[in-house]
This record gives sequence, C-alpha cells and structure tokens, in this order.
Amino acid sequence: MFAVVAALCLMGLSTSLADHHQACHSPNMTGTVAMSDLRNGAKVVAEFVYDPLARKLRMKTAPWPGFVTTNSSRNLDLLLLFDQGVFYEIDSKNQSCEKKVLHSAVSSMEVPPGASFSVKTTLGSETVAGEGLTLSMWKGTVPKTQGTYCTAVTEGCMPVSTTYTSNSSIIIVGHIQVETEIKDPEKLCVPSFCEGEEVDTHDGSTHTFFNLLF
Ligand SMILES: *[C@@H]1O[C@H](CO)[C@@H](O)[C@H](O)[C@H]1NC(C)=O
Ligand SMILES: *[C@@H]1O[C@H](CO)[C@@H](O)[C@H](O)[C@H]1NC(C)=O
Ligand SMILES: *[C@@H]1O[C@H](CO)[C@@H](O)[C@H](O)[C@H]1NC(C)=O
Ligand SMILES: *[C@@H]1O[C@H](CO)[C@@H](O)[C@H](O)[C@H]1NC(C)=O
Repeated sequence: MFAVVAALCLMGLSTSLADHHQACHSPNMTGTVAMSDLRNGAKVVAEFVYDPLARKLRMKTAPWPGFVTTNSSRNLDLLLLFDQGVFYEIDSKNQSCEKKVLHSAVSSMEVPPGASFSVKTTLGSETVAGEGLTLSMWKGTVPKTQGTYCTAVTEGCMPVSTTYTSNSSIIIVGHIQVETEIKDPEKLCVPSFCEGEEVDTHDGSTHTFFNLLF
C-alpha cells in the first residue's frame, strides 16, 4: 500500500487549483513508523508517539515482525521538538544525550504547514465498504534541502504515508498499527538527564525527520 501511495506521488501529482481544501489536524498518535530509502535500499522501523498540538515526536528504533531492517540501521532513541527546531538523541542506559539542530519541521506526522492540496483518491474500491482507503494527498517542499514531500492522509486526517524525494534519496514512510492516543506522555518530556544540554554547534550535518533514522 505504501508503495502504491509512493507510486502516485512519484508520478507527479499536480497542485489542485480548486484550493477549497482545509489542511486538517492529526490526532494524537502512538504507533510504528517504517521508512525505506529506494535509492540505497536502507530500511528502518521505529516506534513513535506524536503530540500534534505540542508538535513533539518520540521515535525509538525497534524490530517489527515481518519487516527486515538493513544492517546499517542503528539503535536510536530520538525526541524531536519541531517548534523549537531541535532534537535530542537519547541514551537512556548511559543517561546521556545530545541536542542538535533540526533543520526542518516537516515530517510524516501531519500535513505540513504550507502544504498544497493535490488530489483525493481511493486505493481499492470506493464503493465496497471495507475494501478501499480514501486518501487526500498534500505536497510541498522542504526549503533547507530542496526535497519535495507528498503526504497522504485519511478522511479522518490520520497521516498514513509520505514520500520524500531529494536529489540524494527517495524515502517512503508508512505508519502502521496506529492508535489515536498518547499512551505514555512521559516519552514526550525531555529526560531530566538531558536538561541543560547545549545545542551541538560543531555538527555540520543537515538533520530532517527524513534522514535522522538512517
Ligand atoms: C492529546 O494529548 C495531549 C497530551 O497528552 C492531551 O492534553 C490532549 O487532551 C490529547 N487530545 C486528545 C484529543 O485526546
Ligand atoms: C552487516 O554488518 C556486519 C558487521 O558490521 C558486516 O560484517 C556484514 O558484512 C554486513 N552485511 C551486509 C549485508 O551489509
Ligand atoms: C556509554 O557511554 C560510553 C562512553 O561514551 C560508551 O563507550 C558506551 O558504549 C556507552 N554505553 C552504551 C550502552 O551505549
Ligand atoms: C542537491 O541539490 C542541491 C540544490 O540544487 C545542490 O546544492 C546539492 O549539491 C545537490 N546534492 C547532491 C548530492 O547532488
């Protein structure tokens, strides 16, 4: 299904001129995110918790039955604070962390501010109940990387899949087994051992939601 959405995105959806579509708001979410880079075959799976009002995301890499991740994927535990433009790389065992600049607030967790509505379409059947999934597609650009994204959300505004294309990667993101609640709010708090941590200013890399887990 994620590949189907990606295929639609990669075919190059145009922006709808009938711009009467309101960007909707994501629900609270706890679930699993699967990411794959089509250019180099890298795959990674992480458990996530997202608070759409506070715009905070926790992601921790985790095995997922039936999904083979690539060798290169590291064990990562990340807390992304989109409004503050920073993220924490957390090592709970060592009670240590690093704080770094997050160069874009775009993620697969919501229709990004500034996204343009493209099209509403149904995967599978539109007429047979339970045999189709109707999705609205939104697209836009990540200024810092010049990458483009295409995000598909359900009629209830649950984001399910995002395709991100830059000149070095084609990343497909899929959301799996999502529950519309924040099961453990503590996960969205900066751990006490990270408080007072200074932003790493020597780090020259560009960090976005789409490259952090690889
Ligand atoms: C979403 O989670 C936040 C933080 O835990 C909570 O304050 C809010 O009431 C939740 N919203 C809904 C609709 O459940
Ligand atoms: C996986 O990682 C191990 C240890 O780092 C390495 O020896 C092996 O060649 C890697 N395999 C692949 C398929 O990359
Ligand atoms: C804890 O930190 C030390 C020093 O930075 C590092 O060598 C070690 O691998 C870390 N342990 C874990 C479990 O990550
Ligand atoms: C990607 O495109 C940007 C902007 O066009 C350019 O500055 C950058 O060098 C390109 N990177 C690669 C890896 O081609």
